[in-house]
Amino acid sequence: MTAVDIPGLLADIATEVEPEIGRGTVADYIPALARVDIRRFGMAVANLDGSVHGVGDWREPFSIQSVSKAFTLALVLSRPDGDRVWRRVGREPSGNPFNSLVQLEYENGIPRNPFINAGALVVTDELGHDGDAAEALLAFLRAESGSDAVSVDAEIAASEAEHANRNLALGYLMASYGNMRQELPDVVEQYIRQCSITMNCAQLARAGLFLARHGVRNDGNRLLTRSQAKRVNAVMLTCGAYDAAGEFAFRVGLPGKSGVGGGILAVVPGRCAIAVWSPGLDARGNSVAGVAALDRFTTVTGWSVF
Ligand code: DON
Repeated sequence: MTAVDIPGLLADIATEVEPEIGRGTVADYIPALARVDIRRFGMAVANLDGSVHGVGDWREPFSIQSVSKAFTLALVLSRPDGDRVWRRVGREPSGNPFNSLVQLEYENGIPRNPFINAGALVVTDELGHDGDAAEALLAFLRAESGSDAVSVDAEIAASEAEHANRNLALGYLMASYGNMRQELPDVVEQYIRQCSITMNCAQLARAGLFLARHGVRNDGNRLLTRSQAKRVNAVMLTCGAYDAAGEFAFRVGLPGKSGVGGGILAVVPGRCAIAVWSPGLDARGNSVAGVAALDRFTTVTGWSVF
């Protein structure tokens, strides 16, 4: 397919996924997330030139949750010596729920990948060792989205902080293996603020464009080498949808990172970044309507990496 009418396609997709909207369940282990209206659906496509098309609730902010993990990994890798993070975290799919503890013990405190909670805590620890990791992330997301409205939702952060025992347990287990540099409560606190950032689909798609541009930011400066951008996209493809990453690759065929707020960022290298949001989650924590919309998008356009 050569010329694609993106606004028309987005309108078609919104109609086609209508039966999926409202299916699944809203994440309720973070009480503030459980209050979101399950019937929301928004989708935005950002082109390489920064222009954005959207449909539905594409301008409504939502909690990005684990979508933040793709950005924090990129920020760590962009630093001098950033590759040393790979000594502390792997890059294999876990095949386990994102907050699982079991693997971490028999794999000696080295998380399988940077996109499960344990791995993201390691990334936050690296990113935050000379400053506040959440502030670094926020500055980056504001610059890339072109909006200072991108911010931490204090109510969601507080709600997460009250229900942080699982993340604290993951962190202390890693600390017991010597895989935590900073004091753990500080790391978890920064991690929670990263997850509690709210953005809308337009902002998120624009912020993800550097991954579509093989590492080049919206201002033309390079964040990642081409090889590093390939690696982030590869880990998104293999590990970005938790223990459903295989199913996501099968249906969508793109690097993607999902979050329990119902958002997904997907990347078509060399072409565009796509953000979709709908809060109803399947059993493994991925947006039901969001995955369906991306499935439809790549099926119609043929824009997958395969
Ligand atoms: O730490 C948590 O459980 C949430 N803040 C994020 C969970 C999420 O989106 C899925 N994680 N990989």
